[in-house]
Amino acid sequence: MDSGLGGLSVVRLIQQQLPNESIVFVGDEGHFPYGTKNQAEVRKFVLKIGEYFEKYPVKLMVIACNTATAAALATAKKELSIPVLGVIHPGAQAAVNTNAHTIGVIGTDSTIKDGAYEREIHKIDPTIDVISKATQPLVSIVEHGLTNTPQAQQTVNEQLSIFDTHPVDALILGCTHFPFLRNQFKIKLEKRQN
Ligand code: DGL
Repeated sequence: MDSGLGGLSVVRLIQQQLPNESIVFVGDEGHFPYGTKNQAEVRKFVLKIGEYFEKYPVKLMVIACNTATAAALATAKKELSIPVLGVIHPGAQAAVNTNAHTIGVIGTDSTIKDGAYEREIHKIDPTIDVISKATQPLVSIVEHGLTNTPQAQQTVNEQLSIFDTHPVDALILGCTHFPFLRNQFKIKLEKRQN
């Protein structure tokens, strides 16, 4: 599940790794965006979708949303009868595995305010510097189908400008909508290196 289309970036990877499983995807567009809502509200949405999955029934629920993982993973694990996985621990672990000394994190207002990535990275290695930046405008670019447009590139350039003055060794795309902007990130980050 995700708040919208972003979770499809996770669905794509699950299909590659588990080609024999069927996938039920819920993009909660009725409550989109999650990133500007408070965590108690997001927890309610996640539990409701989890109850739907329980009845479906499914073998496993993936919260394919960083905002919802930060707000609701612990509660969903406790309250639901099916196993539940989130996306923050694997993302933090993958970034630490690059041996980066400084890691950048971009995500929704809610995820960055929560500090979930910083906490998770520091649980693995407390010596790593973390530079976090809320980039909520990137979410609406993706949700409104504006990827690969000049507007998308301009918004990425503006939202990531902090990394011009605070360079990082690795950048966590801490929102499942962001992989759809991969080309725009590449152009922005390559420009910085030149
Ligand atoms: N795709 C979601 C995430 O990974 C949230 C986007 C939103 O609803 O604000 O955080």
